[in-house]
Amino acid sequence: MTALSTKHLLGIKDLTPDDIHLILDTAESFKEVINRPIKKVPSLRDITIANLFFENSTRTKLSFELAEKRLSADVINFAASSSSVKKGETLIDTVNNILAMKVDMVVMRHPNPGAAVFLSKHIDAKIVNAGDGAHEHPTQALLDAFSIREKLGSVKGKKIAIIGDILHSRVALSNIFCLQKLGAEVMVCGPTTLMPKYIASLGVRVEHNLRKALEWCDVANMLRIQLERQDIKYFPSLREYTMLFGLNKEILDSLSKEIVIMHPGPINRGVEITSDVADSEQSIILEQVENGVAVRMAVLFLLAGRG
Ligand code: CP
Repeated sequence: MTALSTKHLLGIKDLTPDDIHLILDTAESFKEVINRPIKKVPSLRDITIANLFFENSTRTKLSFELAEKRLSADVINFAASSSSVKKGETLIDTVNNILAMKVDMVVMRHPNPGAAVFLSKHIDAKIVNAGDGAHEHPTQALLDAFSIREKLGSVKGKKIAIIGDILHSRVALSNIFCLQKLGAEVMVCGPTTLMPKYIASLGVRVEHNLRKALEWCDVANMLRIQLERQDIKYFPSLREYTMLFGLNKEILDSLSKEIVIMHPGPINRGVEITSDVADSEQSIILEQVENGVAVRMAVLFLLAGRG
């Protein structure tokens, strides 16, 4: 198989296991490319890509831009905070104006769940969802799966615990879909108030005790508390959250086996994870960031039909 079954990348839910394997295998070739002295290939030199960010980002925005440049695409960047959105322009008008400049692909981050799906129904360009509210963040899940495969040899049969604010996390949902499609067992762990009511229907284990989750898993993916999406209080205080669900070196060193530590970023050091764990030998947080460029190169390359 050399082509994806989808025109866009809107969510992991739409991908087949073969699609995911194709993206990860293609990313492996691109990882080799970006470690060469000349880190660039001409694959997308006839393609123009617009990066539309309606919500803040460090990793995803820079990683997509670098991936596009490594593939020799022409790139334009749009940040809603400094655009005519502030003067009342709608999403469709904004995007149609950008497309009038002959853009082939749109990478979009938006605070509203479903924004990327909505866009795909109204414009001709290929869409890559770079995170839509608390819905999906497909390229994060793909780079997480790539990083697990690289570290442990495969994803199939591995036990992955996703720990923290599951309710507000697009990373959690996309990871659950991706890891299950690749044959992993998935557990979510956090306070009851930060678990979506439908979570058990996704076929994941649900745990409310951090130590039990850590004893069970091969990989712990620690998530940030997304205070910016919380309009009510879901737990008494951050201090209490950290006491019950924060990962520190003492707990990590007391486990019966060595586990891999992941975090999608941004990290709130001292809340969900202490600095000595985030910076430890068991952490692959910066490998995740490095792999993000190769995975996003693979996604753009395959969506452009260059597989
Ligand atoms: N992991 C992630 O999406 O980080 P950013 O919000 O900085 O892009």
